[in-house]
Amino acid sequence: MTIETERLLLREYTFEDFSALYEILSDPETMAHYPKPYDEEGVRRWIQWNLENYAKYGFGLWAVVLKETGKMIGDCGLTIQNIDGDSLPEIGYHIHKNYWRNGFGSEAARAVRDWAFENTEYDCLYSYMKYTNVGSYSTAIAAGMRKIKEYPDKIDKITYVYAITRDEWKELKR
Ligand SMILES: CC(C)(COP(=O)(O)OP(=O)(O)OC[C@H]1O[C@@H](n2cnc3c(N)ncnc32)[C@H](O)[C@@H]1OP(=O)(O)O)[C@@H](O)C(=O)NCCC(=O)NCCS
Repeated sequence: MTIETERLLLREYTFEDFSALYEILSDPETMAHYPKPYDEEGVRRWIQWNLENYAKYGFGLWAVVLKETGKMIGDCGLTIQNIDGDSLPEIGYHIHKNYWRNGFGSEAARAVRDWAFENTEYDCLYSYMKYTNVGSYSTAIAAGMRKIKEYPDKIDKITYVYAITRDEWKELKR
């Protein structure tokens, strides 16, 4: 499974991505809105969880690769998340901080959104994040989502939920 955009390739993870992914997920600045950065074991589990997601659902978080250099600069994809008690399809993204603010996060998120509406039956896609994560909710907005709710959460204190419906997406694509 690969998705191609103007500048990016999204493809399935393999354990060969470990070092590049460790650089991203172990970085305290990148993981500032998570409880803590990931250790080696956490990064291995992240890849394993996605290999299981591909097998179980046909999707997961995919490695984001810069076409120009072949470098893996992050991930973006669809996973099933518990959002305020409901299991919902969520678009998630993590980009290496050296590449932030170049439009890569939103380019990947839009491609995943299109893939999901074209290849699954879901009528609504979500992104959720800690209320302080401006980069994350700005990326959700750039993917055509709007804020639909916020709720108190033990870890995040407050979680924001963004979403786009299939009808809103069709309207965007007209
Ligand atoms: C969220 C993330 C993937 C965005 O990646 P990116 O490649 O920098 O995103 P883009 O360049 O496409 O930016 C998308 C929008 O967010 C805005 N944005 C990105 N980072 C921002 C920040 N730190 N503060 C304010 N706005 C920000 C951009 O200006 C852009 O807005 P625009 O469409 O109005 O111009 C990146 O910041 C990241 O990896 N963060 C750490 C991991 C994380 O928290 N992931 C989300 C978990 S819920």
